Amino acid sequence: MVKYGVIIGSLRKNSYSKGIAEAIVAGLPKGSETSYLNIADLPLYNQDFDADSPKSYVDFRQQVADQDAFIFVTPEYNRSIPAALKNALDVASRPWGQSVWAGKPALVASQSISGISAVLANHVLRQSLVFLDMPTMAQPELYIGHSDQLSDETGRVTNKGTQTFLADAAKKFDEFAKKNI
Ligand code: FNR
Repeated sequence: MVKYGVIIGSLRKNSYSKGIAEAIVAGLPKGSETSYLNIADLPLYNQDFDADSPKSYVDFRQQVADQDAFIFVTPEYNRSIPAALKNALDVASRPWGQSVWAGKPALVASQSISGISAVLANHVLRQSLVFLDMPTMAQPELYIGHSDQLSDETGRVTNKGTQTFLADAAKKFDEFAKKNI
């Protein structure tokens, strides 16, 4: 069974991104292992720390290394990905030559309360994942617009059609991950 790491771009308690991640995880085959990685407490990446990294960096890099594949769900902040998510990508990509992302299959989903579905954040993230050498599932693309109308106030996805769409994508990603690990 595949070990999935889940990374959410929002740090908000009632995040719609988190609810979407949970709806994707619900569609994975029974027995899949999933770990939600905490990116909130990582100090801003500083190359000076490569020689002697803080424990939070060391622990996070180990958590990434321990996963087989990743599910990313992100909102869009100012037409890009949130800084916390970019920071997490940077921390686990270094020191140079020791990136722990390489080769791990990825699924990208983006959401917005507006109609544009965070499409730019989705593709900014995909761009970094190309450089990080993570095979990323092309289809289906997961752009979720008007997420507040598809979810309750805790962020949980309540729209049945969206639940089915995300669960189907999870099954496809499980097949993709198994082929690409
Ligand atoms: C936003 N939001 C937003 N939405 C969008 O479609 N494009 C954007 O560029 C931005 N920019 C932006 C910047 C900042 C700082 C915030 C706080 C919000 C709205 C955002 O998509 C919406 O609040 C999401 O639902 C937040 O995701 P979570 O926290 O619910 O996962």
